[in-house]
Order: sequence, then C-alpha cells, then structure tokens
Amino acid sequence: MTDHLVKGVALLGEDRADLAIKDGVFVPVESLGRNPTVIDGHGLVALPGLVDLHTHLRQPGMEHAETVLSGSQAAALGGFTAVHAMANTQPTSDSPEAVQQVWEWGREAGYADVRPVGAVTLGLRGEQLADIEAMAASEAAPKVFSDDGHCVSDSTLMRRALDAARRVGAVVAQHAQDPGLTQGAQMNAGEQAERLGLTGWPAVAEESIIARDALLAESLDARVHICHVSTAGSLDVIRWAKARGIAITAEVTPHHLLLTEDLVSEADPLFKVNPPLRTREDTIALREGVADGIIDIVATDHAPHPAEAKSGSFEESAFGMLGLETALAVVLTTLVEPGLVTLADVGRLMSSRPATIGQVPGYAQPFTPGQPAHLTLVDISSASPEPSGSLSSNNPYLGRSLRGAILHTFYRGVATVIDGRLSEIPLQDGRVSE
Ligand code: DOR
Ligand code: ZN
Ligand code: ZN
Repeated sequence: MTDHLVKGVALLGEDRADLAIKDGVFVPVESLGRNPTVIDGHGLVALPGLVDLHTHLRQPGMEHAETVLSGSQAAALGGFTAVHAMANTQPTSDSPEAVQQVWEWGREAGYADVRPVGAVTLGLRGEQLADIEAMAASEAAPKVFSDDGHCVSDSTLMRRALDAARRVGAVVAQHAQDPGLTQGAQMNAGEQAERLGLTGWPAVAEESIIARDALLAESLDARVHICHVSTAGSLDVIRWAKARGIAITAEVTPHHLLLTEDLVSEADPLFKVNPPLRTREDTIALREGVADGIIDIVATDHAPHPAEAKSGSFEESAFGMLGLETALAVVLTTLVEPGLVTLADVGRLMSSRPATIGQVPGYAQPFTPGQPAHLTLVDISSASPEPSGSLSSNNPYLGRSLRGAILHTFYRGVATVIDGRLSEIPLQDGRVSE
C-alpha cells in the first residue's frame, strides 16, 4: 500500500496542516516511510470521506442503470467513501442472503463501503414484515431498514417495524408519502400542476406521515429517520417532534435544496422525482432548516434511470435523478456560499452525522492518527466536472455551472480518485477492477 503525504491542506476549510496516510490509516507525519506519494494540498480543502445514507445502486435487476461497481465509482468521484444501498432492487433486499450479496459486491468493487439497507416489508409490498432480526444478524448487519420508493403506510406494520428495529439497535428510514393522498400524483400540487394538467402532490401527504411516525417512534422508544424532506411544513412537524424529545432524524436532498417546480414547466421528465420538486419558498425553508439543525443530514437519493425511462411523456417516466457526483457542489452552492453553514458543518452534514445515524464506524474523529483514512480533497472554487461515473445520465444539473471539484478521494487509505479521475483499485484476489 502506498503511503501518502498531503501538504498544506485546509482542514474543513480552516487550519492548514499536513496529512499523512499509511497502511489505511492517518498517522503522524513522522511515521511515514521514506518515499510517500506527495499531494500538494495548497488551495484545497480537506473534508472527511462523505457518507451517503440514501443511494440507489440498482443491482440486482437493473444493471443497465447502475451496478454496485459503477455506483460506488460515482460515489468515489463525488467524494463519498460510504453509501447506503437502498433495498428497492429486483429482487428486493429483504433477506439475509440478499443484503449479504450487496455487501459482497461492494467489497469486491472496493471503491467505497457499500452498506446494504434492508427492506421493511417483503418485496416492498407493504403487506408482510421482512425478517429484520435475521437481516441484522447477517455479516452485512444492516443498521438501516427502509421500503424507500414506497411508504410504509400501514400504521400497524410501521409500528412493528419500528419495534423490531429498536430491538436490533437499528433505525427505520421512512419514505413519507401517504399513498391515498398521492394516487397518480406527478408533481407538486399547485398552479403549475394545474396549468400542465398533471395530478398534484400535496404537502400534507408527506407531513401527516412524518407526524404519525414521530408519535409511533415516541410510543415505542424507537428511532425513526425521515428520507428526503421536501416541504416547509415538514420542518415544522420535525421541529415539534424534536422539541418533544422524540428520536427523529431527517435528511434533505441536494435537489430539494436547489431545484424548484418551475423547472417542470416544459414537463421534462429529467425533473420528475419523488417527492417532487417544490416551491422556491420550500427550498429556502429547507436551507434554513439545515442551518438551524432541524435537518440532520444531506443525503443524495441518487436514483439512476436508463434513458428510455426518462425520455417518454412525463406521466410515463420514472421518478428520480442522479446525485452522488454533484451533491457536494450543490451543498457548497446552496448552503456554504450564502453563509448558512460552514465547511465544518458540511463535514457534519455529509459525513459524521450520517455515519452516526447509519452506525458506520470510522467517521467520528476525522483526520486523527489511528483512524481509517477516509478523505476528500476539494477545490471549492473550480467548476464541477460533468458526472461520469454513473451508468445513467439523468443529471438534473446539466448545463448549470456548479462550483466545487473533487480532486482526490481516499477510502481506507486507498486513493479511489486521483486528480479528479477514478483510479484502478486492486481487488482482493489481485485483479484490477475496470
Ligand atoms: O425519485 C425517487 N426515485 N424517489 C424514490 O423514492 C425512489 C427513487 C428510485 O428508486 O428511483
Ligand atoms: Zn424515497
Ligand atoms: Zn430513494
């Protein structure tokens, strides 16, 4: 394994320091061997390796859209060193064997820590609880369970899921969408939806589920996590629940921080996502929600789809957009540049907090000797490159100038990205991944 010395880099945008990496961990500079690979860190910011709590990798079942390998390469290019792979694959990740398989693919790929999310219900059908205990006991040991893509709308099932997750020390991540209130819904409810003749998606469909789940979690002393919060009203509900002492955490996606329903004016399926893009007022409220701590983390909801699923009519197209390779740039644009959060806050929002929620070890003390060397080196003033790692191209930021270029990513001390390009990672059996 090559030793690395990063010279004069601004840690979390603050003090400049040298960082030394040897045998997968940070070490004191004096412990380095004789000829480390030196990276000039002047002008760069060091962030801890980013952790995504919400990623869709599409393997098994939709390997033409993304695989565990391509998705973890996109993750590395985006500065991520750990991703949580959602369970809505085909077949669903709803058994110990299924979660184990995803975990092994991730380990073979070697670009990031791929942590499988276990399904809450069998086949995500919302009928029968999956065996949460058995999945938790597997080697892959998921700490997050979710039917994401679908809401666990049945109150009894959600109650049992929260209880089972509590028993195994895990969290349920809820995709908050009352199905009865969103039948056929295509975009945010309001004038724009009416003008386009598309069925509207009311905010209350999200907010009512969050309120219910907060109360269910409270009654069981369980933890609940809310995926992709998208409305100003949801923030009020979460604020209220936190004030009550409920163990609730919440994420916002980069796209809900930046993009609005106005983009749907030409019914371009690129901007079709679940939950939908909302209003300008919602994006402003969400940014403030991050700044005041009501929102705990930023998570990508990276949702690759093949061109054919995103090129027909709006109504027939799939929900979802790419996110891994643009997340940091969008956060820099929407939160750091306006002064709402600092780069140290970004370290919390995109690394240590999601690692805590997902119980990913190795992220509590960034840059500290003895700790795993998960590191992202960013040029925050340069233009972001176009995404290139994903097998899909449903990038909603196409043609927008975003700033923030990830130049180097280290996962467990191995350079997964060098000078903005993927490196070849030696596999455990000595081969090299493509
Ligand atoms: O837009 C979305 N796409 N939202 C989801 O909840 C699921 C995801 C997907 O799997 O494509
Ligand atoms: Zn979702
Ligand atoms: Zn999702």
